[in-house]
Amino acid sequence: MNESLSEIESRALRELVAVSGDEALEAWRVAHLGRRSPLTLLLRGLAALPLDERKSAGAAANQLKQRLESAFEARKEELAHSLTEALAADRIDVTLPGPPLPAGRLHPTTQTLRDVLDCFVSMGFQVVEGPEVEWDRYNFEALRIPRDHPARDMWDTLWIDYERDGERPMLLRTHTSPMQVRVMEQTEPPIRVVVPGRCYRYEATDPTHEWMMVQVEGLAVDEGISLSDLKGTLTDFAHRIFGPERRTAFRCDYFPFVEPGMELRIDCFLCGGEGCRTCSRSGWIEILGAGMVHPEILESVGYDPERYTGFAFGMGIERIAMLKHGVGDLRLFFENDVRFLEQFG
Ligand code: FA5
Repeated sequence: MNESLSEIESRALRELVAVSGDEALEAWRVAHLGRRSPLTLLLRGLAALPLDERKSAGAAANQLKQRLESAFEARKEELAHSLTEALAADRIDVTLPGPPLPAGRLHPTTQTLRDVLDCFVSMGFQVVEGPEVEWDRYNFEALRIPRDHPARDMWDTLWIDYERDGERPMLLRTHTSPMQVRVMEQTEPPIRVVVPGRCYRYEATDPTHEWMMVQVEGLAVDEGISLSDLKGTLTDFAHRIFGPERRTAFRCDYFPFVEPGMELRIDCFLCGGEGCRTCSRSGWIEILGAGMVHPEILESVGYDPERYTGFAFGMGIERIAMLKHGVGDLRLFFENDVRFLEQFG
């Protein structure tokens, strides 16, 4: 009997040491102190023994039961303690700020577009938008560029695969100027609008040309508008966007829908006017075409050209972003390389 008690004890204590976790501890208790444990069965079997043997064996078994119970309590305590320690060591301070999430921001050409529009809105211009898929009529004909006229070569065109009477009358607009006529057809002077939008050209790319670009068209029509209004507005715009120290220059240019026509150029930020690859060795970068709205166009929309005059301009936003940020190749804006784009806060 004594021997089997010592066996029960040593097995129970051996297993107790290996116990970890609440479930294993409870399983141990059931196995060694439960109703069907060897010890309980042994205690039950004492009744069959003669009285003197029963007394000594009963006392020994009860002492073992007490020892196992206190060993169980001690182990329970020990496990609870180590859990508290583990939790304390593993503590997370939920009030600490987390690792920063990468935040998106506006694309540099979108930022530039917004700056340009804000500038004109503050001068009293209204923002309107028009279709990117345009009729030949608005993109060319209504702007005094008839079919087969050589001036069409100024805008290499992507045509839409839609035929009518053997002609392809739809295209991806090559500039935002069609909106000049669309706005004038629907409104009476005074007009002051700026029109942002994507334009498409079938042309080879280089540091200052892409096949897709964003233009902003401007149109002002009223009584008494003169070339000095055009020059004053655009010079003020250039100084606000690029800083008062930048040099600007107007140069004669030809566009069939204005008379006279001109371009506005800004001194090259890379070479400071010396001439380099980015400015095609000229020292200047052209940012917009402009001019006084042609009287025939005013007449075609029903305005009296003796009473009303107007100016118009069209600028490339990527060129402005290049100049503003000192980027030598506007194609970088379209490559979507985050390492490049991240530099513009
Ligand atoms: C025009 O598109 C005329 N509609 C501008 C105009 C409007 C003249 C109103 C008179 C009155 P041009 O093709 O030069 O003109 O383009 C205007 C501007 O768009 C250029 O100065 C340049 O800044 C930008 N641009 C033109 N082609 C490209 C291109 N391929 N890639 C990037 N920007 C371009």
